[in-house]
Amino acid sequence: MNNTLLAIDIGSSAITAVIAKHDLESNINILGTAVQKSEGVNKGIIINIEEASKAIKDAINIAKRSTTEVIDTSVVSISGSYTKSIRSSGSVNVPNGLITETEINQVMQMALYNATIVPEYEVVHVVPIFFKVDDSVDVDNPLNMNGSRLEVSVYIVTAKRTALTNIKSALKISGVDITRFVLDGYASAISILDEQQKKFGATVINIGSTTTEFVCYKGNSLIYNGFIPVGSNHITNDLSVMLHTPPAAAEKIKTEYGSLTKNYSSSNDLGVTKVKIPRIGDEELHSEVALDHIQTIIHARIEEILILVKNQLKKSGILDNVGSGIVITGGMSNLEGIKPLAIKIYDGIPISLSNPKNIENGYMSFDDPKMSTIVGLLVYSLGINRSYELDSSKKLMKPVKKQAIAEEKAINNNSINTKSTSNNHREDLNLKDDPTILTPLRKDKKKGVSKFWSKVSEWF
Ligand SMILES: Nc1ncnc2c1ncn2[C@@H]1O[C@H](COP(=O)(O)OP(=O)(O)OP(=O)(O)O)[C@@H](O)[C@H]1O
Ligand SMILES: [Mg+2]
Repeated sequence: MNNTLLAIDIGSSAITAVIAKHDLESNINILGTAVQKSEGVNKGIIINIEEASKAIKDAINIAKRSTTEVIDTSVVSISGSYTKSIRSSGSVNVPNGLITETEINQVMQMALYNATIVPEYEVVHVVPIFFKVDDSVDVDNPLNMNGSRLEVSVYIVTAKRTALTNIKSALKISGVDITRFVLDGYASAISILDEQQKKFGATVINIGSTTTEFVCYKGNSLIYNGFIPVGSNHITNDLSVMLHTPPAAAEKIKTEYGSLTKNYSSSNDLGVTKVKIPRIGDEELHSEVALDHIQTIIHARIEEILILVKNQLKKSGILDNVGSGIVITGGMSNLEGIKPLAIKIYDGIPISLSNPKNIENGYMSFDDPKMSTIVGLLVYSLGINRSYELDSSKKLMKPVKKQAIAEEKAINNNSINTKSTSNNHREDLNLKDDPTILTPLRKDKKKGVSKFWSKVSEWF
């Protein structure tokens, strides 16, 4: 549980690697960090294994420089560009009348078993939308409740196997075996939303360099995820093409002068209406461009992204029921004036911009919207507020208790002094804590008669 974790956010503009573990107070303790320019990744997909693996390897090696800890587990973000999500449900009998983690695991596995997973897709998340004990509805946490029947309704995220295999291959070259995949938008939401927002409902939109990922929460659960293959790099390309300037110059104009609210007209107080930009092909040559023209180009692209997201939310029925509102994050949320534009487009739905919860450390600041995904990966794997769900290995993730971390840490520390027995002791401990002992059901083995008996057991 307090193993050393390597978290990697494979973005299209940057690859962020962080090594971390729990400290004694069950805070997330950062041991090493790195942000490297991304290569071989576009629209959330690895398009060149060699380039991508080199960039990932560089990031991991830099993060490793400040720690001698051996990495035990790893978690990697995946894009919504190759995911499909479905809903399912399951129910099991509770033989002893008391719901334990065994029944919770069984009902989650049953809901997964009942789902029709598209061939060539792999399960990434099985998240409970609500539990039901006998006839009582919407039980938050069924553990230790008394009842004879446990039901669950779940949201299942699956991802294209080939895309996951490419990520695994890229990481294998760096000597890393992936333990867990986490949906990018889900990670962002975990790092951004507080408990109240999760409960009342909220939509998180992460606008990165080539992708826009969004997820919706309701009643403490993930209920929807979406994706649009457009991001801030499209603005750079638009500026580059329309102003005949190299992409690097276009990126500079975007970040330095990009604003949807500044008055760039001839009557402005800023005293500047035009900028000089290099010409593509001959960077010695410069041309002058009006800033309000640049503003119009940027405005058009951001408007397009926000409307495309709005249309998807509307189609899925989420827009009429967004709860506490929409939170925008990701690198492009740095653009001045994105909030008032979003307020206009989303017709009065509360809009906010958010950075992830900062994790104090001596290496780098996480207080930046670009860091939402990486912080989410850390909180997902090491945070203490998580609830029950099946991870990408179909293992039950359990809420982590502060006390358990401290106890385990104490036992591990003792084991250093009692070397001869330490291995056995650790094994015992791992067995107790290891969710794999709650064995997942295997669909391929459950056919015909056994499937019939599992249905029969549900009736009684
Ligand atoms: N002030 C700004 N205005 C517009 N865009 C900005 C600004 N600051 C940063 N960006 C853009 O944010 C992007 C980087 O954001 P982020 O790190 O979230 O993307 P990523 O995770 O690498 O990409 P993706 O999630 O699409 O794979 C870059 O394209 C950068 O140009
Ligand atoms: Mg990103």
